[in-house]
Amino acid sequence: MPRSLTLLLFCQLALYTVVVSNRGCGRPILQDNMVTEGLQRFYSPGEEVVLSCKKGLAPSSGSRTITCTASGHWTELKLTCLTKSCSSPEVLDYGDVHFNDIVYKSTINYTCYEGYTMQGASTTECLADGEWSAPPPKCLPVTCGLPPIPKYGKVVYDRLVTGNTSVYGSGVTFQCLSPLVLIGNERGFCTANGTWTEPPECSFVSCPRPTDIINGYMTIDAKREHGYKEVVRYGCNIDYVLDGPVESQCLKTGNWSEKPTCKAPCSVGIKRGRILYNGKRYWIKDFKKKISHTELVSFYCMNKDNQCGYAISSQCVDGTLKIPECYEEPSDFTYNLRYSSLPSEIDQC
Ligand SMILES: *[C@@H]1O[C@H](CO)[C@@H](O)[C@H](O)[C@H]1NC(C)=O
Ligand SMILES: *[C@@H]1O[C@H](CO)[C@@H](O)[C@H](O)[C@H]1NC(C)=O
Ligand SMILES: *[C@@H]1O[C@H](CO)[C@@H](O)[C@H](O)[C@H]1NC(C)=O
Ligand SMILES: *[C@@H]1O[C@H](CO)[C@@H](O)[C@H](O)[C@H]1NC(C)=O
Repeated sequence: MPRSLTLLLFCQLALYTVVVSNRGCGRPILQDNMVTEGLQRFYSPGEEVVLSCKKGLAPSSGSRTITCTASGHWTELKLTCLTKSCSSPEVLDYGDVHFNDIVYKSTINYTCYEGYTMQGASTTECLADGEWSAPPPKCLPVTCGLPPIPKYGKVVYDRLVTGNTSVYGSGVTFQCLSPLVLIGNERGFCTANGTWTEPPECSFVSCPRPTDIINGYMTIDAKREHGYKEVVRYGCNIDYVLDGPVESQCLKTGNWSEKPTCKAPCSVGIKRGRILYNGKRYWIKDFKKKISHTELVSFYCMNKDNQCGYAISSQCVDGTLKIPECYEEPSDFTYNLRYSSLPSEIDQC
């Protein structure tokens, strides 16, 4: 082939390429959220490009195809891509659902209430196809075996049970065969860790022979051992006042419950003067009564500034009756001959 012809052919070929490129389309400009496969640098008129939405997004409207037109432009891009959502999670029985969003890559965390164990995945993720990576889990109650039965005792179920398991929260009441006494918890529960609470014991309870109280007495036939809940009654000698419970009971521990005490009466520790007792005034030499525990007696004191008398009371506490500090015992002389000047006899303040 002559050299000139070769050159001509080459020139024609080059011209042809330029013409084609002028009339074709360049690489289409896509949006960030779209992809397409095998993009070329040049497209001839009439060529189509099929677009897809990126992973996790779904086409919501518009055609997925654009075409290179004869004028060298792409047809208008109408496709829109929106984030794909997974379905809203449902409420979990006996558990909580934790999530912020339900779009691609969101996660849901599930937790079960105390006493419930999870069956299934505790976390699930929203996948690109709009499906959750795992179905929601279930929260199933913890089970305990049957409750322990105390020796010499029995179990009363709150609700009828079938099979040989109990579920979390089920309760029972324990009972002991008479005359044994239930020591410990009368109620039992299936706990969150699958075990029953500590069962009680059934034991025989007796209390030792009860003892006397000082200045008092107890029921005549009491000096023997007693069974659980038996009682002994106490009383006090004359003039003594019973303080505390009248009865003492034999407890589960084999001890007696608190016993009362007998509180002593008081005498009025003055020799000369007048007192006020139960609303009446008495000269002390004429006063023959005993003041009982907790009773009040008033003594007379002198207000020296105003030259008047006033009564001040004191309480008998288990044999002790304090004489007020302001009280002054008069001399024999004053008491016998000038008694009208005593604080109890002059004008009262
Ligand atoms: C789920 O748990 C993971 C790990 O504990 C945590 O990073 C994430 O924030 C939790 N998601 C939600 C929605 O609570
Ligand atoms: C409970 O009963 C099932 C069959 O009814 C038995 O296989 C299982 O061993 C029992 N479990 C206990 C703790 O008794
Ligand atoms: C189960 O829980 C109770 C309290 O609810 C506890 O006293 C007991 O020790 C626990 N048992 C085990 C095996 O963890
Ligand atoms: C009850 O009796 C037990 C022995 O049976 C004794 O250890 C305990 O101290 C007693 N409790 C009281 C409050 O007296």
